[in-house]
Amino acid sequence: MSIDPRTFRSALGCFATGIAVVTVCPEGEEPFGITVNSLASVSLEPPLVLFCLARSSRKYQAVVACREFAVTILAENQRDHSARFATSDAQHPWRDIAADITEAGTPVLAGGLAHLVCSREAVHDGGDHAIVVGRVRELDWRSEGLPLLYFRGRYARLEEGTQG
Ligand SMILES: Cc1cc2nc3c(=O)[nH]c(=O)nc-3n(C[C@H](O)[C@H](O)[C@H](O)COP(=O)(O)O)c2cc1C
Repeated sequence: MSIDPRTFRSALGCFATGIAVVTVCPEGEEPFGITVNSLASVSLEPPLVLFCLARSSRKYQAVVACREFAVTILAENQRDHSARFATSDAQHPWRDIAADITEAGTPVLAGGLAHLVCSREAVHDGGDHAIVVGRVRELDWRSEGLPLLYFRGRYARLEEGTQG
């Protein structure tokens, strides 16, 4: 059975996810962010996470070469952050975006539900994507607040009061 990408995307779109922004600061260059919904936890000990990065992304080389990246898991009121970092064409990607900066210069977006600071552990082949694995060195999260969700190719909300 040959599966075309659109069908594949539609089927996998039934798997609701959160949305995160991966931020990177290549040495001597401006930092940038990339919106992902492919974030997954991999291992507890050691603490590893992964995200999948399209090889076609203009940011591909810079991401796979980075020694450190940060992940901010977006809150439901951060839809504009998701849109801003889903394109390399934003004129002023950091305008009005509050962020803390790690020692290595990586921005960690403020206002998310959680953030992770990771060392790049490995980059594996994943077809037209690369599977980027990071070892979590620092993290923080908050127990209040709702996530920004992605479902069937659209943003979605978790209804208040529907959590466990
Ligand atoms: C909700 C959402 C989830 C996304 N998830 C991913 C992802 O997991 N991996 C990826 O490579 N691109 C993902 N993208 C697309 C990238 O954010 C976007 O294509 C990229 O930032 C554009 O970079 P480029 O202009 O350099 O190609 C996602 C976009 C959105 C809006």
